[in-house]
Amino acid sequence: MQKLIDEIKKTSGDMARRGWAESNGGNISLRLNEEYHRYFDGIEPKSGWVNLPMEMPKISGERFLVTGTGRFLRNIELFPEKNIGVIEIDGKGGAYQLLWGYEPKGAPTSELPSHLLSHCQIKEKSGNGMFAFIHTHPNSIIALTYAVAALDTKNLTKLLWQSHAECIVVFPQGVEFLPWVMAGSMDLGIATAEAMSRRNLAVWQYHGICGCGRNLDEAFGRIDVAEKAADICLRVMAAGGAKQTLTDQQLREIAINFNCHVDLRLFDFKQNET
Ligand code: 13P
Ligand code: ZN
Repeated sequence: MQKLIDEIKKTSGDMARRGWAESNGGNISLRLNEEYHRYFDGIEPKSGWVNLPMEMPKISGERFLVTGTGRFLRNIELFPEKNIGVIEIDGKGGAYQLLWGYEPKGAPTSELPSHLLSHCQIKEKSGNGMFAFIHTHPNSIIALTYAVAALDTKNLTKLLWQSHAECIVVFPQGVEFLPWVMAGSMDLGIATAEAMSRRNLAVWQYHGICGCGRNLDEAFGRIDVAEKAADICLRVMAAGGAKQTLTDQQLREIAINFNCHVDLRLFDFKQNET
């Protein structure tokens, strides 16, 4: 149990210290692997079954560690049992019950639709190898969604790939851009899960970013690199704009060198570069 708590403490503490988690901003979920799942065998549930807004059979019977709604990520290190909880999905994927946490009373994050629907997708696409999903509010990513005209998945990805030479290695499938949708809504959950079926990062316009990974470190790392690239991009814009940048050919060479499976639909290779 302590190992599981230590894992989320590290990520939530890092997020808070990065300035990504003002007030109750941001939320984390971790699907429990076999070892962590067993910690909660035979435990007396702390709630009745709570219906999910739609059935999610792909995650039936799974257990998740999820941050609480309204709770501050920066307080998880101090009081884990108040700020995080462990929920279990029923056999049909239509309801959850609380097994542990949210002391003395509380509920999972309001972004639960995005978390659980994304877990359905990332579990499937990874052959049951991806367990972590993070949503957070990093300044530079959010600022970019105001500062750049006509953003879409293709030009946001290109902008980030060109702003830092490691980006194409860390997120070769790019970053999905989702135009503004109401926070906490099913619509946002459905759009985010669809994005996660194709990529490991999705930006929510004027709001923040989501990332997934095999573990919390990997999900955090992807967001960290994207945020650093967004920060560099804004600094370049503030300094009068790029005077030169990584070419398509150079990006392609990086991807080949590091053996990355780039989403080629995001690339506009010039004729002589294909
Ligand atoms: P919660 O407090 O419900 O987790 O919401 C925070 C947030 O970032 C909503 O998008
Ligand atoms: Zn948010």
